Amino acid sequence: MEKWTKISWEEAEETTDIVRAAHCAFWCKPETKTLRDTPIKALLMMQLRFDGLLGFPGGLIDAGENILEGLNRELREEMALDNEKFPVGKQNWISAHLRQTQQPDGSFKKTQVCHFFAKNLSKENFYEIEKKQLDADHWGYENFGLIRAPVLEFTAGSVAEKYPGRGFAWFLTHSFISCAREQMTEMIISEGILTKDEITRYFEMSRNPEL
Ligand code: GTP
Ligand code: MN
Ligand code: MN
Ligand code: MN
Ligand code: MN
Ligand code: MN
Repeated sequence: MEKWTKISWEEAEETTDIVRAAHCAFWCKPETKTLRDTPIKALLMMQLRFDGLLGFPGGLIDAGENILEGLNRELREEMALDNEKFPVGKQNWISAHLRQTQQPDGSFKKTQVCHFFAKNLSKENFYEIEKKQLDADHWGYENFGLIRAPVLEFTAGSVAEKYPGRGFAWFLTHSFISCAREQMTEMIISEGILTKDEITRYFEMSRNPEL
């Protein structure tokens, strides 16, 4: 069994003896629409991983690296991100989740810290980063494609009538790595993309999708 707790940057900095990872959500407000004139509320960059799960670009902090060095290196490896043009810094930090794993004797042991960052981009920069991904060393190896999480809701037409919740609510029913779904939810609220009530409603609609 595992349990997750949120810890501060300072607390996370003290846990250097366990595995550390850092991932980042790039996003922009697009002012574009999809089918049936449905507004897209945000473009939110995620990746399809080699293991079939959805997650964010980023990865493990290697020996001798600090969090920001490791994160920016991983973003270059997985997306061919231009680190000079698009640096991710402490000001982009959103959260740290501590994973604790239950031991045979019932006690919990700290096993991993997952740092999470978010960076708001212009639409032009978002598109530029998406296009560049094919040049990445780890494209098709770890990163099986950067995707746009469909942060949108169908409210009109036959799709909305027949399949309420299609759009973001159904996106939530995919399988996400580790605590990536929680990280996504948190940044969507903290970056002001959706309200807590809106996300709660999407989670309710996602529970029993009629396929
Ligand atoms: P390797 O170089 O092959 O080790 O891959 P990587 O360094 O890119 O690591 P990866 O991103 O696959 O994952 C590092 C750790 O973080 C693993 O324990 C994953 O389970 C976890 N992980 C991967 N993606 C996410 C994510 O989006 N959010 C969270 N919270 N954890 C993730
Ligand atoms: Mn078509
Ligand atoms: Mn990687
Ligand atoms: Mn990775
Ligand atoms: Mn790695
Ligand atoms: Mn790697």
